[in-house]
Amino acid sequence: TPLDKIRNFSIIAHIDHGKSTLADRLIQTTGGLTAREMSAQVLDNMDIEKERGITIKAQTVRLEWKGYELNLMDTPGHVDFAYEVSRSLAACEGALLVVDAAQGVEAQTLANVYQSIEHDHEIVPVINKIDLPAAEPEMVRKEIEEVIGLDASRAVMTSAKSGIGIEEVLDAIVERIPPPKGDREAPLKAMLVDSWYDPYLGVVILIRVIDGVLRKGQEIQFMAAGTKHLVDRVGCMRPKMEILPELAAGEIGFITAQIKEVAQTRVGDTITDSKRPALEALPGFKEVQPVVFCGLFPVDANDFEKLRESISKLRLNDASFSFETESSAALGFGFRCGFLGLLHLEIIQERLTREYDLDLITTAPSVIYEIHMNHGAATIELHNPADMPDASRIDFIEEPWIEAVIYVPDEYLGSILKLCQDRRGIQKNLTYVGGRAQVTYELPLNEVVFDFYDRLKSISRGYASFDYHQIGHREGDLVKMNIMVNAEPVDALSMIVHRGTAEARGRGMCERLKDLIPRHLFKIPIQAAIGGKVIARETIAAMRKDVTAKCYGGDISRKKKLLDKQKEGKKRMREYGSVSIPQEAFIAALRMG
Ligand code: GTP
Repeated sequence: TPLDKIRNFSIIAHIDHGKSTLADRLIQTTGGLTAREMSAQVLDNMDIEKERGITIKAQTVRLEWKGYELNLMDTPGHVDFAYEVSRSLAACEGALLVVDAAQGVEAQTLANVYQSIEHDHEIVPVINKIDLPAAEPEMVRKEIEEVIGLDASRAVMTSAKSGIGIEEVLDAIVERIPPPKGDREAPLKAMLVDSWYDPYLGVVILIRVIDGVLRKGQEIQFMAAGTKHLVDRVGCMRPKMEILPELAAGEIGFITAQIKEVAQTRVGDTITDSKRPALEALPGFKEVQPVVFCGLFPVDANDFEKLRESISKLRLNDASFSFETESSAALGFGFRCGFLGLLHLEIIQERLTREYDLDLITTAPSVIYEIHMNHGAATIELHNPADMPDASRIDFIEEPWIEAVIYVPDEYLGSILKLCQDRRGIQKNLTYVGGRAQVTYELPLNEVVFDFYDRLKSISRGYASFDYHQIGHREGDLVKMNIMVNAEPVDALSMIVHRGTAEARGRGMCERLKDLIPRHLFKIPIQAAIGGKVIARETIAAMRKDVTAKCYGGDISRKKKLLDKQKEGKKRMREYGSVSIPQEAFIAALRMG
């Protein structure tokens, strides 16, 4: 396709503003799918994505409209996947900015739109959900102009749900978004935008060709990875896969090259022709690193090998999480895993539980601390509280900080400020835009990884939105807090905390554990301690009677049922010395009060 007939665009939107619904409509209107095939949202591929309504893996689809080739690049919508978003945006010349006519501009919208502007995109505002009774399209139009500073006079009004304004969106893409630049005759230069594992095709790579041409049989080289592969398929998605003779400068499509693992294909890498290589790689390549770590242990120790296999399989399709074996005194063998963020952690944990039928215990999530040792000994990167060196050998500890932008309706502002303050936040900025506050805070990442996002949402009844990026490490007064149940430390619950909040955290933890651990025949002390010093303590009273005592008389079947139920319950418990702790206790105990 000649360059002037190509348009590459992505859709940016806050979660739930209708990105996927609009994408599906565009596909339907341009004839990509029949109405029946449309019944399920097509662009969200995985089950979990559907249930959570979140797009995890970027996908792309080629549309034909009035003789133009439109490549729609879908982007993930969560802070955890920011780098993938940036590469998808770099592959396009423009973007549709979808804003919910009833909700208006939200933090995620802002973050994405600024990124899009940085990529010099032509942005076409789309005000969606105009069918809603609460829709206020004119107010939202004004808000887009005031808050983002974009001209919204030509914003397209749509209802993706009822199919209103879809053709206008397609026309606006052709008229307003510029065609790509590129040179078909130059040496091949293509950006690796995304990749995923397909059981039949092996690794499928999504690319944007910048210069040159890609064909089957060509030997390509990944410039950052340094590896060479033979291309065996070239094509595009409509959204069904279609094989093409070539992909040329300006185009977006996929290739396969008999690659077995997604880990060999790094997002942002430059693909070139090994016989006629490009002189320079594309800018912006970055290796994504996990930022949140936790231990995953099987509830049933016999499941360890099964867990290893399942994790390895998941890893085939997700190069951004890491894992290594870990052993814990209390939990036995498991894995120390690294994730891009808490949502990423939850997704992996959920897939292991659901797709591989594993019962898991997750230990407290931790960030990476830099431990500076005495006498200038080497600095340690610590992401497992269990490996914390003795306090006397430590000079000082640094922890990662983030800058967070929170967007919240005025009425919830007070509680949000309190939340940030409680989490050691430093307020940097506070501005008002039409009944809403935009607050910027610097926060330690470790105060955010636990349940900050959940708390933010519940405090604001879902109206606050949140976006963050890391801003480096800072020294902090950090200590390791141990939790002891019946005088034995439970390593899975130990965590690194700030000294100033340690007591409150320790007390909260002991109180919650008191409710979560069932009574035993003996008294159980629960303690939180720093070094040898106990900072909080609770006691679970001893059980008075046998549970079966409730079954007076000879009701054998009822008694048996009760015992079976207890046995069932047992399976989901971990034994700590002589104390049984239910699986739920681990996760629940980590939620802060
Ligand atoms: P993420 O994938 O989570 O980022 O969300 P999204 O932006 O893709 O939103 P999605 O398309 O999944 O839509 C979110 C919800 O809004 C769904 O329940 C849609 O049915 C609904 N929705 C989308 N467009 C419209 C619209 O024009 N009108 C109405 N009333 N509802 C809509």
